[in-house]
Amino acid sequence: MGNKNSINRRTFIKVAAAAGVVAAGGAALWHLGGLRGLRDTALRQFPGVLYVERLRQIVAGDTGRARVLMWEISTPTEQQTVELRVRGKEEIVRRYPVMDDRFTDEGIEVYQYAAELDQLTPGTKYQYRITAGEMATDWWEIYAPNANEAYKMLIFPDSQSSDYADWKEMAHLAWARNTDAQIFACMGDLVDNGEDRRQWMDFFGGVEEMKRVIPIAPVMGNHETYDLNWKVRLPEAYLHYFKTPTNGSKAFERYYYSFDYGDVHYIVLCTQQKEIGEFKNGLVEEQLAWIRRDLKANRKRWNVVLMHKDVLQYRINGRPERQEGIDEENGRVWMPIFDELAIDVVFSAHLHTYRNRGHIFGFEKTPNKKGPLYILTGVAGNVRYPNLWIDHAFDEVTLPQPETDNYLTMDVTREALEIACFLPDGTEMDRVRVTKR
Ligand SMILES: [Fe+2]
Ligand SMILES: [Fe+2]
Repeated sequence: MGNKNSINRRTFIKVAAAAGVVAAGGAALWHLGGLRGLRDTALRQFPGVLYVERLRQIVAGDTGRARVLMWEISTPTEQQTVELRVRGKEEIVRRYPVMDDRFTDEGIEVYQYAAELDQLTPGTKYQYRITAGEMATDWWEIYAPNANEAYKMLIFPDSQSSDYADWKEMAHLAWARNTDAQIFACMGDLVDNGEDRRQWMDFFGGVEEMKRVIPIAPVMGNHETYDLNWKVRLPEAYLHYFKTPTNGSKAFERYYYSFDYGDVHYIVLCTQQKEIGEFKNGLVEEQLAWIRRDLKANRKRWNVVLMHKDVLQYRINGRPERQEGIDEENGRVWMPIFDELAIDVVFSAHLHTYRNRGHIFGFEKTPNKKGPLYILTGVAGNVRYPNLWIDHAFDEVTLPQPETDNYLTMDVTREALEIACFLPDGTEMDRVRVTKR
C-alpha cells in the first residue's frame, strides 16, 4: 500500500508539473455544483475505501512527539479512528480517538474531524490511516523528527487570489521539486476572503499532496478576518480549519502560537490587532507578555518568527506624503523585542513583494550581521501590486519588477539557517545564510 501511494504521488506530481494550469483548471471544474455529485459517485465506487477530503497534518507544540490531523467527509461518519504503524511493518502501534469537529460557516455545514497523535517517538517514520467500521483510507506517511535534525522547510507567501490557478501551479511545482521538505509554512492571507468556503477549498487544493504527508504551520493574515461583505469579522473559518497548538489565552486562543521542529523554535504572531480590535482588545499586550514567557521556556538553538504584516514602512508610488521607515503598529512594537530575545530570522508577508533586508538591530542596518535577518516573503497568488512599492533603503535583494510569484526554502542545520527564494519555474533568485555570530 505504501509503495503504491508513493508511486501514485510521483506520477501525479509529474503530470501536475507538466500541465499545472490544466490540472488546476480541471480541479476547479469539479467544484461546479452539477459536477460535484458526478465526481462523488465516480470516486466512491470502491467498497471498503473511506473517502476523506482536505486531509492535513498540522504542527503540534513538539512536532517530534505529536501531530494534529484534520479532514472532512462529505456525510457525517461515526466511529472513526486513526491507526498508526511504523513504516514497513504491518502491526498497528497505536489507535487514536477522533473528534467530531464540525462547524458551520457561510451557511455551509462542514463535516470536519480531528485527531491528536501523541506519544510519537522522535526519529521514526510512521504511516497513518483513518478507519470507520470496515472502511479505511490509504496509508499516508508521517514523520516524527529528531530534536537535532537537519531538514528543509517550504515557505509560501500570500496565496490570496481571484483565481487560484497560479497558486495551485506554483505550490505543486514547489512540492515536486522539494519532496524532501519536512514541513511547510503559509505566511497569511491564505485566501482573499476568509468567509468564502470555495476559496478555502482552492487554497487547500494547492497543497493537496504535501499537507497529507508533512505538517503545515499556518499564519493568520488580515484577509482571514474579512466576511463576504468585506467587513471585518473574527477569523472563524481560519480558526476552525487549523487546530494549531494552544497558547493558554482566553480571548485569543490559537490566534498566535509557537512550536518546535528539530532545532528551531518557531513563534507565529498575530498582527491583526487593528482588525481584531473591532471586537476585542489586548492582542498585542497579551502577545508581548507571552513571547517572553514562551521563549524562556522553549528557546532552541534557532529561534524564528513568522508574522503576516511587515515591520518596515515602504513608500508608495503616487503617495508622496508617505515616508520610508519603521512600521508604527508592528515594527516599533516587535523589533526591539526581537533584538532583546535574540531572534535569528523574521519572516513576514502582506506587501506581496519579496525583499531581503539583511540584519537589523536597534532599527538600524548592521553590517556585522547583528540582529535578526528580516525577509519579506513575496507573493504566491495572483493578487500582485505592480509598481506600487518604492524600494526601502534597507532592501538588499528585490525580485525583478513587476513580480510574478515566488516561494522559499529554508534548510536547517546545526551550523546555519539557509534561506533561498525561487520563481515558479524554479529559478533561484536569492540565497542567504544565517550563522551564529
Ligand atoms: Fe495579502
Ligand atoms: Fe495581508
